[in-house]
Amino acid sequence: MVLKDWIRVSLSDHKNTIDEGMCGISGCITEGRAVAGILYRSLKRLEYRGYDSAGMATISNGKLYVKKDQGKIDEVNERLNFNEMPGSIGIAHTRWATHGAPSKVNAHPHVDCSGMLAVVHNGVIENFMELKRELLDLNHRFVSKTDTEVVAHLLEENLKRGGDFLSAFINAIKRLDGSYALAAVYVKEPDKILVARQDMPILIGVGDGSMFVASDAAAFIEETNRAVVLQNGEVAVITAKSYDIYRVKDGTKVARSPIVLDWTVEMAEKQGFPHYTLKEIFEQPLTLKSALRLQDAYVDLLTEFLDRGERIFLLAAGTSYHACLAASYMFSKLARLTTFPVVASEFVDNYGHSIDIDTVILAVSQSGETADVLSALEFARLRAATILGITNVVGSTLTRVSRAYLLQNAGPEIGVAATKTFTSQLIVLAQLALRLAKKRGKVAQYEMDEFRDRLYEIPDIVSRVLDEVKVPVQGLAKKYAGEKFFMFLGRGISTATAFEGRLKVMELSYIPCIAYAAGESKHGPISLVEEGTPAFFVCPNDSTRKAILGNIEEMKARGARIITVGSKDDEELMEISDDYIGMPDVHELLSPIVYVLPFQLLAYYLAVEKGLDPDKPRNLAKSVTVL
Ligand code: AGP
Repeated sequence: MVLKDWIRVSLSDHKNTIDEGMCGISGCITEGRAVAGILYRSLKRLEYRGYDSAGMATISNGKLYVKKDQGKIDEVNERLNFNEMPGSIGIAHTRWATHGAPSKVNAHPHVDCSGMLAVVHNGVIENFMELKRELLDLNHRFVSKTDTEVVAHLLEENLKRGGDFLSAFINAIKRLDGSYALAAVYVKEPDKILVARQDMPILIGVGDGSMFVASDAAAFIEETNRAVVLQNGEVAVITAKSYDIYRVKDGTKVARSPIVLDWTVEMAEKQGFPHYTLKEIFEQPLTLKSALRLQDAYVDLLTEFLDRGERIFLLAAGTSYHACLAASYMFSKLARLTTFPVVASEFVDNYGHSIDIDTVILAVSQSGETADVLSALEFARLRAATILGITNVVGSTLTRVSRAYLLQNAGPEIGVAATKTFTSQLIVLAQLALRLAKKRGKVAQYEMDEFRDRLYEIPDIVSRVLDEVKVPVQGLAKKYAGEKFFMFLGRGISTATAFEGRLKVMELSYIPCIAYAAGESKHGPISLVEEGTPAFFVCPNDSTRKAILGNIEEMKARGARIITVGSKDDEELMEISDDYIGMPDVHELLSPIVYVLPFQLLAYYLAVEKGLDPDKPRNLAKSVTVL
């Protein structure tokens, strides 16, 4: 089958879209008080999460009312007037579309054929295609392309077979694979909201004569500061005066008292973190899990194009360029594929005249709107190059100019400094490298299996590392906050980590830094070393360790202070370092995802130590949309 036919076939199978990442859910049930205004305010409180459509469902006098549309909450409210919706029970949703264009039909809540129940969802239902086919065979009529709508029809089907709302809900949940925070209401049991949680957060807000559910406390913190966190594998029945939690697997009841959140609204939007930047650093275990749920068809599609390219450029700017730098090591070592990581603003001058129909460009851009990237792509498009994309924002210009693209699913990044979007780019690129390796068959099966196994361990490793290094790195920030200059060095793929560490520290603490491949020291930069110059070394236990030991010694001999981020078991390295951050051993090609974490935290804590605003560093914009 020729490529173009293959592409047509593969894309047609996957027209469906799935919602995931950072949608916002809220719900409320009261003893007779209208909920529409409460739900509207809760949606406004979830706005910071980023979204492109909003909706609400309420129940009154045995009737379900649903209003939803694409657009910002206030725009949708202007058009549909949420506040006039009747009823003292309702659910609401802001959708951060990650697959497929934002649209009215894809907005939540989703309803069943009978219009008797409504569902809102955050997460990804991995087996929704199989469930959808099963429900279509049972003559269910679908109106949207989302995975979420499957839940509404599954519930409807279960209710048809008898049983109450809760048993129908639990039986539906048991069929779902993937991640979800769900809330559902049903006109025949208008005294309860049912919620379920698997991997995506959902909280219960305990009020007086009213109860709330939400993706995060920001949605209801103005109504109550008492919250109950639902855990994975649990469902809850929420009434105006009570909440009951059950374990899905065996139906046992779980007793859990509310916690009191001493948060302001603003803090609630940061989940209790003092800054978005720190919240987003700690969000990485979740965002990395989301990034591991790519749609196979799209990964295969990009693989196909990359495998056929004569020359392949990895095009990006800033942090995204560092992700490309790391990816070039992954592609060459795993897939034996040579790729050229290029800073977007230099691409045309450097390579413009060698672009032709055999050129493939993989552009990596969190915003999908970076002007340097888009202008380089326009130049290449006019020379018939194939353009592929990796971005965090569906509907961004990059998704429109790309022949095919992958989404990072990291949710909106509010902090100007790229943190969670860097690691999500790396893990998407790692999956691409693995798929290319399989297709090109240049490395042994056991090597690919080993890489895949280590890849899926990353979210948990990241979670552990963040907890372990937070305090030691805070100590480093206090110790070095007065410094006037830092050096960052690495070898192999850790060169990318060193570059990214330098960028983070520079852009958040404003301390001048340089970073370079450690082997370059004696070709010039070592002249900068004076007594006490702080030099950071990235030194995982990989093939570069021996060589970088030599680089450390040569810097130490000239008086540098050595701060090493290395394997926690490396006694020899600890011995020669002035400060040491111990890390777990990870696959060599995945080390940047884990070894960058101490530098993200260091940059953040240096900024705090210096009384700077880590979320809004001077002179910088989140997306550089001007050349
Ligand atoms: C990274 O911390 C910076 N905010 C900046 O370098 C950023 O990575 C660069 O502007 C590229 O942005 P993009 O990924 O949206 O294209």
